[in-house]
Amino acid sequence: MTLELRGITKRFGPLVANDRISLTVNEGEILALLGENGAGKSTLMNVLYGLYQADEGEILLDGAPLKMSGPGDAMAAGIGMVHQHFMLVPVFTVAENVMLGNEATGFAGTLDLDAARQRVREISQRFGFDVDPDALVETLPVGVQQRVEIIKALSRDARVLVFDEPTAVLTPQETDELMEIMRQLRASGTAIVFISHKLREVRAIADRITVIRRGAVVGEASPTATNAELAALMVGRPVELTVHKEPAQPGPEAFVVKDLRVVDDTGHTHLDGISFSIARGEVLGVAGVQGNGQTELTEAIMGLQSHVRGSIRLGEHELVGKSVRKVLDAGVGFVPEDRQVDGLVGGFTIAENLMLNRSHGKPFVSAGTIRNGYLEEFAQTKLVEYDVRASGIQAKASQLSGGNQQKVVVARELSRDLSLLVAAQPTRGVDVGSIEFIHKQVVATRDAGVPVLLVSTELDEIVALSDRIMVLYRGQVVGIVPADTPRETLGLMMAGERPEGTAA
Ligand SMILES: Nc1ncnc2c1ncn2[C@@H]1O[C@H](COP(=O)(O)OP(=O)(O)OP(=O)(O)O)[C@@H](O)[C@H]1O
Ligand SMILES: [Mg+2]
Repeated sequence: MTLELRGITKRFGPLVANDRISLTVNEGEILALLGENGAGKSTLMNVLYGLYQADEGEILLDGAPLKMSGPGDAMAAGIGMVHQHFMLVPVFTVAENVMLGNEATGFAGTLDLDAARQRVREISQRFGFDVDPDALVETLPVGVQQRVEIIKALSRDARVLVFDEPTAVLTPQETDELMEIMRQLRASGTAIVFISHKLREVRAIADRITVIRRGAVVGEASPTATNAELAALMVGRPVELTVHKEPAQPGPEAFVVKDLRVVDDTGHTHLDGISFSIARGEVLGVAGVQGNGQTELTEAIMGLQSHVRGSIRLGEHELVGKSVRKVLDAGVGFVPEDRQVDGLVGGFTIAENLMLNRSHGKPFVSAGTIRNGYLEEFAQTKLVEYDVRASGIQAKASQLSGGNQQKVVVARELSRDLSLLVAAQPTRGVDVGSIEFIHKQVVATRDAGVPVLLVSTELDEIVALSDRIMVLYRGQVVGIVPADTPRETLGLMMAGERPEGTAA
């Protein structure tokens, strides 16, 4: 079986998202699609999945053109997709979700719930997934939700499976497991298209690599190419893959957290009395396996958690008990881990999103009216500085590619006077070129004398940017260690082991 995309062009108004793209993927093969944010990868895959209609070009399966008027046609042809942003219904069970897609698309093999349960069990068994058909999707960890998406596709006998940035939200262990699943799928003959900004993963799993830039194919690369070679091909220039920074010049302690406790509505403890401080001009990295209290820590600081005890002091301000607005007004910049929930308003333009939370005063508003001229100039500058690929500042946030959405959030948060920066997963879904830029901005923020709290599940990022590293495990601080601590030690700490020479 061979799937071929031939001369696909897709326009959004004047913007050419896909410009005569041709590629093929064969049975039992993993094709990686590499490209900058906004290069057109998701658009191309949405065309393949029937969500968008191509303006030109055709899709051929074993040489025969497919008629695609919706995802139903794609599914009927055996094409499945695991989306960049999941499309499951959170309040439904796994089996209901698997069934749902089938009836919604009018696909011939409509399943009843018992059959769907059975299907979930069969597929889980075949691939060694541990998925309960009756579990509510919203209660499942992200990695398991993704398996549900995979099961959903396989339940419709997908022979071609598209994974659009499947690892962006996974823990390292979940990533390893997904890689294994992809290898199994490949061995069973499935053709896979894999999209990721993590070059290491691409090199580890791809059989072939196709690189696209600004909507067009610029070439094929070998999985044996180096990270630097792949990065240069993607971005069209050499990229600095390592962060250059001067040693920190820490000033006085500016941000002090004491005995912080966070409990949720059900009484579950997420942070169990943690204490740390950050000096002006210092980056404290928070390392840990996802789900060990990192999210609750950033939310507690931002006033987004309701049951918080202890103290969070920023200079003269006590932040515990303050509203989000008050925390932001105290000069706290916040890059949230989920940009679509906490970072952006999809229906607003880029310009509007760049002044979000700042609409109550200078510099954007004076005497109750928005200073449009100022806003436009500001937005235009940020668009260029952060290399946001969009039709213009009036483009809606929801129309931006994932990585470009992230760049808008980071641009907004870093471009005001800060007394503290809280950055959670600041480069999630961002391409190598923009990672380089955002990393430089974080270092520049530090060097301007701002304390920085950096939360990331990418240990590379933590090590590259931090001056000290705090490891969280089950809501407690395992230790706070220098940034040059060996990775093995950090790894052990992330599993809950205290480093030698520190008290329990
Ligand atoms: N529905 C839409 N309306 C208008 N423009 C769109 C729409 N969807 C995508 N675009 C634009 O098409 C271009 C390609 O976007 P796409 O999402 O395909 O990029 P991508 O390669 O997947 O990037 P990323 O790595 O950031 O996910 C971008 O400039 C984007 O703003
Ligand atoms: Mg994308």
